[in-house]
Amino acid sequence: MTKQASYRTIPVLDQRGDSLKIPATTGARTTGLAKDGLGRPLRDLRISVTDRCNFRCSYCMPKEVFDKDYAYLPHSALLSFEEITRIAQQFVALGVQKIRLTGGEPLLRKNLELLIQQLAALRTPEGAPLDITLTTNGSLLARKAHALKAAGLQRVTVSLDGLDDAVFKKMNDVDFPVADVLAGIQAAQEAGLGPIKVNMVVKRGTNDHEILPMARHFRGSGVVLRFIEYMDVGATNGWRMDEVVPSADVIALLRSEMPLVALEACAPGETAQRWGYADAQGQYDPGLGEVGVISSVTQAFCADCNRARLSTEGQLYLCLFASQGYDLRSLVRKPAETVSDQSLMDAISAIWQGRSDRYSLLRAAMPPDAQATGARRVEMSYIGG
Ligand code: GTP
Ligand code: 5AD
Ligand code: SF4
Ligand code: SF4
Repeated sequence: MTKQASYRTIPVLDQRGDSLKIPATTGARTTGLAKDGLGRPLRDLRISVTDRCNFRCSYCMPKEVFDKDYAYLPHSALLSFEEITRIAQQFVALGVQKIRLTGGEPLLRKNLELLIQQLAALRTPEGAPLDITLTTNGSLLARKAHALKAAGLQRVTVSLDGLDDAVFKKMNDVDFPVADVLAGIQAAQEAGLGPIKVNMVVKRGTNDHEILPMARHFRGSGVVLRFIEYMDVGATNGWRMDEVVPSADVIALLRSEMPLVALEACAPGETAQRWGYADAQGQYDPGLGEVGVISSVTQAFCADCNRARLSTEGQLYLCLFASQGYDLRSLVRKPAETVSDQSLMDAISAIWQGRSDRYSLLRAAMPPDAQATGARRVEMSYIGG
C-alpha cells in the first residue's frame, strides 16, 4: 500500500494551464499535405469528446484522484460539435484519413450521433470518406450500437482487461461486470461495426493470467484482440516498469498454446504488430483471425507516428506524453472574419511542421532508473487514448 500512497501525493496536472504559442504563419496559403519536422505525415486525428468516464481503471483514472471532488470541465469549456467538425475539416485537408473519437468514455457525451453524422460527411482532398471509429469501455454499447452505425460510424474498439469478473471488476474499480461488455461487443458485431478490436492493457500481477483466456475466447470470433503494454502515460497511475509485461513475453505465451505467424502491417505508423493464428500446417488461417500487440514501452513506434490529438476543450497535442497543447478553441471562437477556415488550417499546418515529439523513443534510450513516472504530463482521460 505504500506504493499507492506515493502516487496519491502527486498533484494532478492542471490541464487548463498555459498553452503553447501557436507559431506565426508565413502568410503563404497552406494547400497540400502536412509533414512534421521529422518528415512524418498527418494521418490520424483522435478527438476526445469528454473528460468523464463511468469506470475508474487504476492505470487511467485512479479513484483516489478522480473522486467526487475532481473538477471536470464545465460544459462551456467543451468544443461544440460544430467547432469539432470545423477543426476536423482542416485536419482532413492536411492529410488526416482516420478519426477516432475517445474520452474519457465518448458514449457519455450527449447526442454523440450528431457529431458522427457531421464527421461522416467530410471527404479527403481525393473525395474519399474517412475511417471513423471510436474507443469505448463498452458499457453503453449494447444500447447505442445501432444508432452509432446509422449515424455513419464504421467500427469500434472496445477496452476489456479480462474475462474473469473479479479481475475485470478490480481493473475498472466500479464493479462493472464482464458480461455487459461482452453484450456490447456482440451488439456492435450485429450492428456491423466491424472489424471490432478489443484492447487489453496488461499489468503484471493484476491481469496477466487473463492473457490466454482472452486469446482463447476471441480466437475465431472475428474480433481482433490486442494486448497493450501498460504505459507511463499521465502522472497519476503510479507506473512502474516491473508491472509492464513485454509484448515479446505475451507472444511467447500465446505461442506455447496456439501457433502464430507474423502478418504485415496494414498501414505505415500502425500501433500494433499483427500476428495471425495458424492452422496445423503452420499457415495463417483467416478463419481463426489475428491478434496484436502494442509495444509502446519495449518497442517504441514513434518513428512513423502520424497521430494528432484534440482534447475535449480544443487543445491540440502532438504526442500522448506531451505536457502542453496548442489552444485551437481560442481560434475557432474568434469571429470568422478574423480567423477564416484557411487561417485555421495554416495554423494547424504550422504547428504540425514544428513537431519533433517522440517521447517513447527518447524514454527507451534513458537509463532504467531514470524511466520513472511523475513527470508533468497530461492525463490520458483528458487527451484520449
Ligand atoms: P486502429 O486503427 O484500430 O488500429 O487503432 P489504433 O491502434 O491506432 O488506436 P487505439 O486507440 O486502438 O490504440 C490502442 C492503444 O495503443 C491505445 O489505447 C494506447 O494505449 C496505444 N497508443 C495509441 N496511439 C499511441 C501513440 O501514438 N503512442 C503511444 N505510445 N501509444 C499509443
Ligand atoms: N497504458 C496503456 N494503455 C492505456 N490506456 C489508458 N491508460 C493506459 C495506460 N496507462 C488505453 C487503453 C484503454 C484506452 C481507453 O486507453 O487501451 O483501453
Ligand atoms: Fe475510462 Fe477507458 Fe480510462 Fe478506463 S481506460 S478509466 S474505461 S477512459
Ligand atoms: Fe507518437 Fe508520442 Fe506515442 Fe511516440 S510516444 S508514438 S510520438 S504519441
